[in-house]
Amino acid sequence: MALPDTTERDVPDTTDHDLYGPAAEFYDLLAAPAWARLGPLLRRALDRVDPGHGPLLDIGAGTGLSTEAAADAVPGAQLLAVEPSAGMRIALSTRLACRPELASRVTVTAGTVNDARLPPRLCAAVALGVVGHLGPAERAALWRLLSERLAPGAPAVVDVLDRTAPPTRAPLRLATRRVGALDYESWSEGADDGWTLTYRVRDGETVVREHAVPLPWSGIGIDDLAEEAGAAGLVCTPLGPDFAVLRSTTTREELS
Ligand SMILES: C[S@@+](CC[C@H](N)C(=O)[O-])C[C@H]1O[C@@H](n2cnc3c(N)ncnc32)[C@H](O)[C@@H]1O
Repeated sequence: MALPDTTERDVPDTTDHDLYGPAAEFYDLLAAPAWARLGPLLRRALDRVDPGHGPLLDIGAGTGLSTEAAADAVPGAQLLAVEPSAGMRIALSTRLACRPELASRVTVTAGTVNDARLPPRLCAAVALGVVGHLGPAERAALWRLLSERLAPGAPAVVDVLDRTAPPTRAPLRLATRRVGALDYESWSEGADDGWTLTYRVRDGETVVREHAVPLPWSGIGIDDLAEEAGAAGLVCTPLGPDFAVLRSTTTREELS
């Protein structure tokens, strides 16, 4: 499957506006195929995390799919969910409202990690579907932050774009779902500076709604991730072609 080249690209600041807002309505309804793969990988990556070391940080928590999966993988952990998109946070709040046990464990920050009040130690971190939205300077700051705050040996679970999946240059249908009397579809199409997610709602052959969500993406791959994280003292262990665990090798004192 042909992919756009993965050369590093400039990424506009995704927090300037609600980039993911138009996706929020459809996000969870069409997420099942992606999470059938991500869920087991995340559980494996978070195996044996000790919640006694501090909270688990979910960066770009979105609608809370990653937050809920991480919470279930590390029972007893408190979670910090950081999410800049107001639209996605509405879905996250609904998820918390539906699961009171989760609501008692998850603290939501409206913004990025820069807006979050972080404790000195984290038991783990998760950044799924996010890192490609960050520019090089933001990523460097993130690796340093994780290196400083992750408890010794604690994992940061990070993915980049799956090389065997979107965005392709040709439109690719990602998922379909029947909702009431209508069919919902998500499509992905690659571009030079990222990709566009398109959501369609069909009544039979008739498209009754269509929403295009252009998403800037840096093109970072797993090798770049390993190199950048290594510069901050994090060791990268790939668990898949697009999915890795970073662990700290440096103490806080050595970094200061
Ligand atoms: C593909 S979604 C992934 C959501 C969730 N982690 C999941 O796996 O379902 C990416 C999320 O990252 C958020 N995001 C974008 N830029 C960000 C930034 N600079 N800091 C934190 N989150 C960001 C978006 O608003 C969006 O909700």
